[in-house]
Amino acid sequence: MTEVHELGYRGKHYTVPGLADVGVRIEPDPKASLPELPADSPILAKIGTIWDLENFKVARRPVELGQVPEAERAALARPGMPRTLDMPIKFPGSDFRLPAELAQLRWLVQRVADLELAINPRHYDEFYCYLTVDQGPVRAGVLQREAPCHVDGFQGARWRPKVRINHTYTVTDCLPTAYYVQPFDFTGLDEARHNFFFEMNNQVAGTRSAHAWHAAPWELTLMDAYTVHRGAAAEVDTHRTWIRLSFEARIFDRLGNAHNPMFRYDWEMVPRDIEGLGLVAWDPDSDPSLRVFPWQDERGEPHPDRHTRTQPRLKP
Ligand SMILES: [Fe+2]
Repeated sequence: MTEVHELGYRGKHYTVPGLADVGVRIEPDPKASLPELPADSPILAKIGTIWDLENFKVARRPVELGQVPEAERAALARPGMPRTLDMPIKFPGSDFRLPAELAQLRWLVQRVADLELAINPRHYDEFYCYLTVDQGPVRAGVLQREAPCHVDGFQGARWRPKVRINHTYTVTDCLPTAYYVQPFDFTGLDEARHNFFFEMNNQVAGTRSAHAWHAAPWELTLMDAYTVHRGAAAEVDTHRTWIRLSFEARIFDRLGNAHNPMFRYDWEMVPRDIEGLGLVAWDPDSDPSLRVFPWQDERGEPHPDRHTRTQPRLKP
């Protein structure tokens, strides 16, 4: 059984697994046979470039990289993996290292390593890779990871100068993420004052979610830091395995992230979340459900029961 440490701040609760310092080591195979990549994807065109809000004006659909083969699925979804948030499994210049408790992800990490070498050859050795594993029951009507419409890797006011954008591979066995394949325009917003995720909610609701797109279950997809998305709610009680590999130039030192004992590093972990920034909605007249955090009711007060979540009305 994996040892699990619990911690929390601002009413949020995290579990951080204590993992083995031995496991699987993986190198990319430059000769691997890979799916044909689309020639016209803005995600592939902007891999590893410096953050620029203008890129939100180009609609982004994740790149489909093929389905996990049938023979690999049982291992990938086998229950028992510890919940793992943004754990580094590759450092700049290193191989990929998977602690023993996560060895069942070997096929996936090899596949992503092979793809990454082909897709991001210029910055391959510059980037970290962070692994997130979320596995467990999802209750009907509830998201495994409740959130507004958002992107992974938003570079707000803290990032001056801006750095290279991240890109993220994900796969799930069910309940695929909703992506909103439409342009987003943030003219007039100030990153030091406005919550861009609330405005993403607002612009998605403005189209009544007309541009929502889902990949098929088991499809490996690639998105970038401008790809707006949100988890999908379960219609019936479901068991779900969801895996994310993020390639980043930055250190992810947020308190709650998992530590990988197969590397020697000692980062000072910092409590940090978007709530702490005091950002407000740019459009104060938007529907109240679009401009509160999930743990708040529509007046902005915390829900009395910490399991209650507000969902944005994206199809008004
Ligand atoms: Fe996300």
